[in-house]
Parts: sequence; structure tokens; C-alpha cells
Amino acid sequence: MALTGATSIKAIAESGDFTSFPSNYTFTNDPHNEADPDPEESIPIIDLSLLTSGSADQRSKIIHDLGEACQEWGVFMVINHGVPESLIGKMFDCCQQFFDLPEEEKKEFQGKHVLDPIRYGTSVDNFSNGKVVFWRDFIKFFVHPEFYSPNKPPNFSDISMEYSKGIHQVVRELLKGVSVSLGLEASYIDNAMNLESGFQLLAANLYPPCPKPELAMGIPSHTDHGLLTILIQNGVDGLQVLRKGKWVNVKPVPNSLVVNTGDHIEILSNGKYKSAVHRAVIKSEVARMSLALANGPSLDTVVTPAIELVDEENSAGYVGMKYKEYLELLYSKLSGQSCLDHVRV
Ligand code: SIN
Ligand code: FE2
Repeated sequence: MALTGATSIKAIAESGDFTSFPSNYTFTNDPHNEADPDPEESIPIIDLSLLTSGSADQRSKIIHDLGEACQEWGVFMVINHGVPESLIGKMFDCCQQFFDLPEEEKKEFQGKHVLDPIRYGTSVDNFSNGKVVFWRDFIKFFVHPEFYSPNKPPNFSDISMEYSKGIHQVVRELLKGVSVSLGLEASYIDNAMNLESGFQLLAANLYPPCPKPELAMGIPSHTDHGLLTILIQNGVDGLQVLRKGKWVNVKPVPNSLVVNTGDHIEILSNGKYKSAVHRAVIKSEVARMSLALANGPSLDTVVTPAIELVDEENSAGYVGMKYKEYLELLYSKLSGQSCLDHVRV
């Protein structure tokens, strides 16, 4: 069987044609060192209902916990977030139906350019000139401020619009808490980042069962652009976050949203909150699906450290760059590798 980046991982996994594990799926650049099986502390849990409608004491405790989660972990789980479980279930059903379409039909959505608003594909490692293929198929689409989505299955648009609106609400509430945790006005990030027209990019990832999960990689270590990424998965774990030099397995509590900090939180907070380094490993004999919704400023926003966080002791650690230019640089020139180094002073 010819194995190329153009063949979906799903088709390859379903063909079951593995006499020996194909070398072009073997990824060695991001060591598969085991995640710490027993981290001393577990990933923080934030109860959103206490942030939005708790007493003054509860609110200030949650804001404190949120700040600590951003500073110490860059990843946390959100419970009581208000996004209905049934809607999340429908999102997964739509994504499954999309990935189950015949290859020819999915190929209609293969973007030509990395910034095309709808893009179906299989990830390749650009640093190996496409010789290494990651064990992931994806469909990515821009959902805000302009909404795009595949029209197959027919309810994909309605469901993903409702889902991304629900998540945007959660993100805006969380960012009020994050603002206060930084000593800023609650509405600071919302205003400074123009969240009313904030950019949202939804990615549905499919990681089919893999015969040699220890050799393949779903997504190698990276940070996300934007402010906060919200992730949910179909009950199969695989996300790992780097903490104090060790990989930690993220095992979300039921009905929670997993949130990670992005590059633009790092820039805005002048480096107080770091963008979380994470990756997706392939472990299981069952298919894993994740929905990652990146939430950024509006595309025209020039993101700089908040002036309130810059003083004689803490000079600005980042130069300003328009979010759209950041994305163009990230995807077109840096092939998805960290862009933070390009804005660090
Ligand atoms: C991502 O980093 O975008 C997705 C990670 C995951 O699938 O858990
Ligand atoms: Fe990510």
C-alpha cells in the first residue's frame, strides 16, 4: 500500500495492512518519554458557576485559584460551565459522521492554503519535508466572527454554531476572572482583545486506533496561539501537558472542559502566565476524538503586554504584533512551530 500524507489515517488504520510499522509514521523528534504516572499535584479544577454567581468570597477564591492555575499549570478543568452535555454529544456525533464520509467527499474540504476557513487534512511534520506523518486526521474551520463549517452532515453548521457560541461565553467569563487575577479590571481583556469580534477556530481531531502507539505521535509538543483553548474529548485520554519538565497526563473529570493558556495570554500578561506546552499521544486501541476550540483576540488586534503590567522592574517582554500577522507567520512561514520567539524582546 502506498503510504503518503494524502491518505487519511482513518483509511490506513481501517485497512489494517501492517506487516511492519511504516517508518513514515515513526516520530522520533519529540521523545516519547513516559508521562509522570503519579504527579504530586493534580490539574486544578475551576467551578465556573462560583465565578459567575458565587458569593464575593467564593468569587475571590476562584479568581485566586484561576490565577494560580494559569501561572503554575497553564491547564485546568472547568466544571459547571453551562454548555449542555447533549450539545457536546451532538458535536461528537457530527464530527464522527464527517470523518465517516467517503474519502472523496471529505477531500472536497481539503484546503489549499493553511488559512483557508475550512480545511480537512492529515498532519505531516513539516520539519521532515513531509516524510513523517502524524497519526491524526482533522477538520478545522473558522467559527467566529464569520462562521464557516462543512455542510456534511447537514446539521454540522447548526450544532457547531451553537457549540462555539456556548464556548465563547465560557471563555469571556473565564477571561474576566483572568483579568482580575492579573490585577486588571474585569472587562480589561474583553475590551483590549476586542472579544466581541474575537477569532475562534474549531478543530476536530480524529486519532484512529494505532498498532504501534508508542512509535507514532498525534500532535507533537506545541503551544496554541490565542488566549484560551477549550478542549473536550470522547472519553479517551491522550492529552499531555508539560509541567516542570515532565509530561503530565490530562484525565478530565466527567463533563468538564479542559482549558489551556495560549501564546496571547502569555504576551498580554507580560510573561506572568506562560502558554502551555502540550501534545497528543496515541496510546489506545480505540479511536480518540478531540474538539479543540481556539479563542483569540479579533484578527486586527495588535497584542502587546498590558501597559499596567509593565514597569521599571518588569520591562515589556514582547513586541506588539497584529493577531492576523501572527497567524500568517505561524502557519505560512513557521509551519506551526512556536511563534513566541518572534515576538519576544
Ligand atoms: C491540540 O493540541 O490541539 C489537541 C490536543 C488533543 O487532541 O488532546
Ligand atoms: Fe494544541
